[in-house]
Amino acid sequence: MDQRERTHRRRGIVLAGGTGSRLLPLTTGVSKQLLPIFDKPLIYYPLATLMMAGVREVLFITTPEDQGAFRRLLGDGSQWGMQFSYAEQDEPRGIADAYRIGRRFLDGAPSVLILGDNIFFGHGLQALLNRASRGDGATIFASLVRDPQRFGIVELDADNRPLSLVEKPAEPRSRWAVTGLYFLDHRACDFADAVQPSVRGELEIISVLERYLANGELGAETLHRGFAWLDAGTHESLHQAADFVKTLQDRQGMLVCSPEELAYRNGLIPLEQLAALAHAQRASSYGESLQLLVQQEQHGE
Ligand code: DAU
Repeated sequence: MDQRERTHRRRGIVLAGGTGSRLLPLTTGVSKQLLPIFDKPLIYYPLATLMMAGVREVLFITTPEDQGAFRRLLGDGSQWGMQFSYAEQDEPRGIADAYRIGRRFLDGAPSVLILGDNIFFGHGLQALLNRASRGDGATIFASLVRDPQRFGIVELDADNRPLSLVEKPAEPRSRWAVTGLYFLDHRACDFADAVQPSVRGELEIISVLERYLANGELGAETLHRGFAWLDAGTHESLHQAADFVKTLQDRQGMLVCSPEELAYRNGLIPLEQLAALAHAQRASSYGESLQLLVQQEQHGE
């Protein structure tokens, strides 16, 4: 890989700080993004989305207190053929802060930012992600919601081109929520530097996206029926997400958002490495599912 290719390959950021106050007392001792969603930690799900998008280098932004636990869980990424780095956010200053913290890591590369509590699942997701990854400017993913006052909302024209963006509008112009997955080009850090705190005192990602919108460089992919987008921010949604994953895995006998499986399927690790990772976790049902996958691959099923 030459220098140019290395610089211009899209890099990933997982924003996994915050206080998790809506999940108290669960989050008093443990970071929200390390809580279980059935058989794996929440952070595996957004990581899996980045892996589906073809990202190899990922920066995890955590609170200073929690960073050790993330490092213990995820390591340097080499076990999955990935490269992981870590950075601290000492206060939840807003989502756009990820681009201030991540400037050195990105080093001029285009990026994909995902919130550490956002789960995406659905047939055809990989194709959507690949399209966004190849695109210029910025791409957001919009999903219909029942309660638009709780989200960043995008208004779309008949061709799905964004017309306006508002964070948690009192009077929403649409029910299309801006999900916590943002593909931005190399200018994101400069745009984030220019953002001023909003009325609620946060560096809003919507303000960064508005720069792209004003330049006519913001695209949107819509997640239609059959796609699941969940954010595990409350007790209710945490439970729902676990139920969803358990039901799918039970029915289909396949893992949802397993980094081990994605690493193998994306050609980042050989079957022997997958087998070793499965063996090390064989005492759990997660490890058993990986072992089953290894057997199926060995027999070409
Ligand atoms: O989930 C999608 C929504 O996420 C979007 O529709 C909104 O536009 C976006 O602002 C965001 O809204 P939330 O109200 O869910 O944001 P929240 O402050 O809960 O932060 C989302 C996650 O990001 C949360 O798990 C903690 C993490 N975070 C957040 C902030 C503001 C950080 O790590 N650092 C931060 O400074």
